[in-house]
Amino acid sequence: MFSLRTPLRHTFLRSASTIPKRHITVFGYTQAKALIFSEHGQPKDVLRLHSHSISPAYGDEIVVRFLAAPINPADINQIEGVYPSKPTFTTTLGTPTPHAVPGNEGAVQVLSIGSSVTDFTPGDMAIMRHTAFGTWRSHATARSSNLLKLPKSPSITPLQAATVSVNPCTAYRMLKDFVPLQPGQWFVQNAANSGVGRAALQFGRIWGLKSVNVVRHREGIEELKRELMELGGGGEAGTVVLTDQELADPEVRKGVIDRMGGKGAMLGLNSVGGKAGIDLCKLLDTGGHLVTYGAMSKKPLTLGAGLLIFRDLHFHGFWVSRWSDQHPVEKEAMLEEIFRYIASGELKDVPMETTVWKRDTKEEELKAAIERSTQGFGGKKQVFVFEDE
Ligand SMILES: NC(=O)c1ccc[n+]([C@@H]2O[C@H](COP(=O)([O-])OP(=O)(O)OC[C@H]3O[C@@H](n4cnc5c(N)ncnc54)[C@H](OP(=O)(O)O)[C@@H]3O)[C@@H](O)[C@H]2O)c1
Repeated sequence: MFSLRTPLRHTFLRSASTIPKRHITVFGYTQAKALIFSEHGQPKDVLRLHSHSISPAYGDEIVVRFLAAPINPADINQIEGVYPSKPTFTTTLGTPTPHAVPGNEGAVQVLSIGSSVTDFTPGDMAIMRHTAFGTWRSHATARSSNLLKLPKSPSITPLQAATVSVNPCTAYRMLKDFVPLQPGQWFVQNAANSGVGRAALQFGRIWGLKSVNVVRHREGIEELKRELMELGGGGEAGTVVLTDQELADPEVRKGVIDRMGGKGAMLGLNSVGGKAGIDLCKLLDTGGHLVTYGAMSKKPLTLGAGLLIFRDLHFHGFWVSRWSDQHPVEKEAMLEEIFRYIASGELKDVPMETTVWKRDTKEEELKAAIERSTQGFGGKKQVFVFEDE
């Protein structure tokens, strides 16, 4: 359990100075809303907005209100039923049939605590300690073990806190844990404009690594290239951005490998799979490592024997949920470091589009944000921002 003795010491969260009480009835019950689903399927078909009330915090309970919660690809996969960690379906929110609340990441403010809670006080800010809590809801009853407390700060916004524990943590671990890259060395990645990709690009810049960043060709590609080049510190810092079409051109590829010193990189980060994953291998050096962490193309990675036999490539997978459960102490240290980068402006936010979730927000508005998150070439991370109005 997270204890006050081990807070994220050097990081702080910009806090709401007051605790809103608008949702609390005279009897101490909190009027709450949650998106829920009772069977797997497409979000637009299976999600519905459910109203319920939450009892006053009792014993070890902590009643929280959500401040912000992103919509990540894994959340969608979980609703579809194609994600390995399945949510538990229960009737705890008073539904006739068992349901689950989607959403894996989020930032919360503590509203009230039960008599045996010693490590949180009302007004505290926290993020979810583990995935699969169910964060697409206005309020929830949690326990200390669900929450990672964040001291108050003028530097970190709830949006930043709500989006730190999946994407930046994934990028951080993949750059640290597979190949001991030294400053000046290269890594390569696809989906470089994604949440994970942008974090990897920026950690690379902060740690002195050089990177080749592949994105899908699109209208307005020059603007995206400029943006990513800037995040990486520009060409002088060793940042290269190219499209999937350019990567498929042997001449362009040769130019990129020349730029990398005539050899490929030892580390590749693959979010896409399919042909894009195999194309990325063309930028790896003999003996290099490809870490697959996503499958955005929904296509399998089909390996030719030559990649294994003659090029001696090594293939790995990475799942931040498993890593986080297995390394709780290291996770806090890593978050502390990442929050420092955010507070200092070294790590920039992903472009976000927020949907305000208020008491009278309609189910359709919430579902529209979820739908936008599934559109390719969307460009912005969809995030729910909760307002107690
Ligand atoms: N293993 C882990 O622990 C872990 C942790 C975090 C994320 N992930 C996975 O990493 C992936 C990216 O997550 P994220 O939150 O960073 O994503 P995100 O910010 O929502 O961005 C989605 C990315 O996927 C690309 N994309 C979308 N549809 C595509 C398609 N059909 N083919 C190729 N690329 C496509 C988008 O590029 P365009 O702009 O070209 O559409 C964009 O770069 C997801 O698969 C997610 O589940 C895994």
